[in-house]
Amino acid sequence: MDKKYEKIDKSFFDTVHDRTNTGAIKYDISPKGISYPDMIPLWVADMDFKTPPAVTDALKRCADHSIFGYTDPGEEYGRAVVGWFGSRMGLNADPSWIVKAPGVVFSMCIAIRALTAPGDAVIICQPVYHPFARIIPSNGRKLVVTELILKNGRYEMDFDDFESRIVKNDVKLFLLCSPHNPVSRVWTREELMRMADICRRHGVLVVSDEIHSDFVYEGSRHIPFASLSKKISDMTVTCTAPSKTFNLAGLQAANMLIENENLRERVKKECLSVGYGAHNAMAAFASLAAYKYGGQWLDVLISYLSDNVKLLSDALETTGGKISLIRPEGTYLMWLDCRELHMTDEELDDFFLKSAGLYLNSGYIFGRGGSGFMRMNIACPKSTLETALSRLTHAVSKI
Ligand SMILES: Cc1ncc(COP(=O)(O)O)c(C=O)c1O
Repeated sequence: MDKKYEKIDKSFFDTVHDRTNTGAIKYDISPKGISYPDMIPLWVADMDFKTPPAVTDALKRCADHSIFGYTDPGEEYGRAVVGWFGSRMGLNADPSWIVKAPGVVFSMCIAIRALTAPGDAVIICQPVYHPFARIIPSNGRKLVVTELILKNGRYEMDFDDFESRIVKNDVKLFLLCSPHNPVSRVWTREELMRMADICRRHGVLVVSDEIHSDFVYEGSRHIPFASLSKKISDMTVTCTAPSKTFNLAGLQAANMLIENENLRERVKKECLSVGYGAHNAMAAFASLAAYKYGGQWLDVLISYLSDNVKLLSDALETTGGKISLIRPEGTYLMWLDCRELHMTDEELDDFFLKSAGLYLNSGYIFGRGGSGFMRMNIACPKSTLETALSRLTHAVSKI
């Protein structure tokens, strides 16, 4: 029988946990190898919150059992994964679609290798999560980039450019980021349909990275690419993971969802060819518990993050337009437009680190269009964010 867990409230996320000297790269890796005492790290995409209590319990049970042989939680696992995406996002998947992986970047590499040939062109929309641009050439494929356009404070696809680059380069695969890190867009059904239509007409397969799909703010709704239609699902590999949602990135577990049997078999074969076949035991049981019991925790978290967005947006208002927030539709990674500071990218990094004592991701790492922007991770307790914002607004006032 399902265990009942006490409902958590927002105070769960108020607790400040000391993550230093725990191996947490967010805290223990210094920017450019230089140590800045008292710096607040708001960079890499993990959260400063504890995972749902049910997940901690599952991990404790595993540890107490103390036998870590080859493990598979069985059918319950598949049901929990597809149940989550079905009930929360309307993706009508079957457990047989699941291909397990140790991560989403791994999944994308495998999909590229399984579904394209060396030298084939793969397209991405920048600015985007930086490994997208790396894993295409590192797997011997040709990188093709279309730039997102910033129009009235919101990023949009340049559909004409997208299509003409696909045609010109004979693109075979599109790596979609949905919701889009770092510009915080949650693509609408109309936008996704236009992408799908272009890809379908030119025989382009779609690998849809939906790792941030659980982080969507009021007014937006995540539409899984594969839920658009059966035809579209048949040309799609959906990459999912409980890692961002439940703060489990260090456990290394992800799931690809692939309806098309031919694509799925090719992807599975590629996984086997690199020697990967199963999740590790801890990750498997943690993921199962997260998908079974983590819903209420997540709902409260989204509300907490929405409060943090408001804090950030109010604070940036006081900078008189020197730093402005691209209104986030999803993800906990905020995209700050710092172009009115009139600094070079190096000066911007220095300003955040040395004048404000904050470690953010520099926008240019996500592509050319990210120059003059910074990415801020707001998945931290309110008190941490308040301190960070008061440092930032103070530093801006001193310019
Ligand atoms: C869009 C996107 N995809 C993939 C990842 C990384 O996933 P994994 O750690 O499972 O490889 C991230 C992490 O920030 C991300 O933002």
